[in-house]
Amino acid sequence: MGTAMNFIEITRNELIGVSLIDEQHQSMAVLVNKLYDKLNSTDKKMIQNYLFKLLEVVEVHFETEENLMRSTKFPGYISHKLEHDRFYKQILTSTDRFSKGLETIGIEQLKGIRQWFFNHLELSDKKCGKYFIENGIS
Ligand SMILES: [Fe+2]
Ligand SMILES: [Fe+2]
Repeated sequence: MGTAMNFIEITRNELIGVSLIDEQHQSMAVLVNKLYDKLNSTDKKMIQNYLFKLLEVVEVHFETEENLMRSTKFPGYISHKLEHDRFYKQILTSTDRFSKGLETIGIEQLKGIRQWFFNHLELSDKKCGKYFIENGIS
């Protein structure tokens, strides 16, 4: 309390109730917040490293959710995975273009990531999270 708001703030409303998933969402938020803090930096290498790290964290997180969806036979698996695949590809493309000097990472991209994150969390992750908990995963 008393500090400035983060770009992505995870509150109780964003918690799924499965601790590993909640921790991974927090790690994603931390990295996007770091990118936000460095938006005006000229240190391309550092921004690139944050982007690579974000890709890695996102990939591991999506795998975690998808593995749980498969092992519990979650009925919405296919459409949920499709949302993951699209988003991953989008960050991969941006990172690649940034690395080649073809694209800068600006506030619009970060707002897009934030919007996807909250939207996906609210509409998709909460659904499978509820299902995981009903199936004994916490
Ligand atoms: Fe998800
Ligand atoms: Fe998620």
